[in-house]
Amino acid sequence: MTSVMRSVVTGVGGYLPDRVVTNDDLATRVDTSDEWIRERTGIHQRHQAADDQPTSDLAVAAARRALEAAGRKPEDVDLIVVATTTPDLTFPATAAIVQRKLGCPIGIAFDVQAVCSGFVYALSVADGFVARGRANCALVIGAETMTRLMDWSDRGTCVLFGDGAGAVVVEPRAGEGGTTDRGLLGFALRADGTKQDLLFVDGGVSTGQIGHLRMQGNQVFRHAVVNISEAIRAAADDAGITVASVDWFIPHQANQRILEGVAKRVGIDEKKVISTVAQHANTSAASIPLALYQGLQDGRVKPGQLLLLEAMGGGLTWGACVLRL
Ligand code: UT7
Repeated sequence: MTSVMRSVVTGVGGYLPDRVVTNDDLATRVDTSDEWIRERTGIHQRHQAADDQPTSDLAVAAARRALEAAGRKPEDVDLIVVATTTPDLTFPATAAIVQRKLGCPIGIAFDVQAVCSGFVYALSVADGFVARGRANCALVIGAETMTRLMDWSDRGTCVLFGDGAGAVVVEPRAGEGGTTDRGLLGFALRADGTKQDLLFVDGGVSTGQIGHLRMQGNQVFRHAVVNISEAIRAAADDAGITVASVDWFIPHQANQRILEGVAKRVGIDEKKVISTVAQHANTSAASIPLALYQGLQDGRVKPGQLLLLEAMGGGLTWGACVLRL
């Protein structure tokens, strides 16, 4: 086998803000119930950032844990990619703010905006630097304060989202070019801008207002299972593996029914699904690294295992990634 450079995940971290908001808490604000939210989404609670806690603080907390797990220090980091749709400021990029707060040296830092698919997109972007020898120690972070985009009078959306951050350290390692290599082994990334109206924020810098998240939930749901399933098969083909051979399926955590629907459609045993939707709700770009962190923390996910990640979000964007930890 030929020697190839692989982008290997060497550390994982996660952070959730202290404040917990239960379904019952939300039922005091909008016409909903714990029973409806659990049955239709699987969500029991979500975390909400403190009023003075910006997205970068969540990102920094997750990044510190990921660096510690990788045995790296902030001074080793030469690339920071933050996937977020809720940046602290319009500019600089949240990644540059994270660089300053962590005390990383001058390097590369920028954000990726692909909404809930942002972490999968950002991993692929980081792979382009790391596997080409253009970065030696990358931080790829998904960090969001989605609760700040909620219309708290819209029960169809405000019950679905939460805040949090997850981070991975990605470093180059020589591999043999086969499926037993550690590292990012395959990707499929997709976008369809014609579906914008299904999930979007009705504001932004050039409109003069921040806006609120708007979603035609049942339409997004319908597209999710079909689109994600196709991307999973494409990413598996790209990696040269079969979907059935993955050890853990670590999906974006939007709705328990979507997770189960996708797993069933692509033939993944439900026991292989890491689900955090009950505790975290939908944390957009943070949900996959948070679920990976959870799986590692509770001992289910182990180094050397084959993982399948997937997500879909506003854009519409969607994608999948196969990696060996
Ligand atoms: O990460 C980005 C991707 N986002 C997603 O993947 C979200 C995808 N969509 C979903 O998860 C689901 O579509 C929802 C959970 C948003 C909604 O579930 P649904 O089974 O598709 O319900 P629906 O939208 O068809 O609404 C059914 C009913 C409606 O009432 P009527 O018109 O039938 O009388 C809604 O008004 O449920 C009502 N409803 C609620 N009732 C109580 C909607 N939200 C609520 C609520 N509490 N929070």
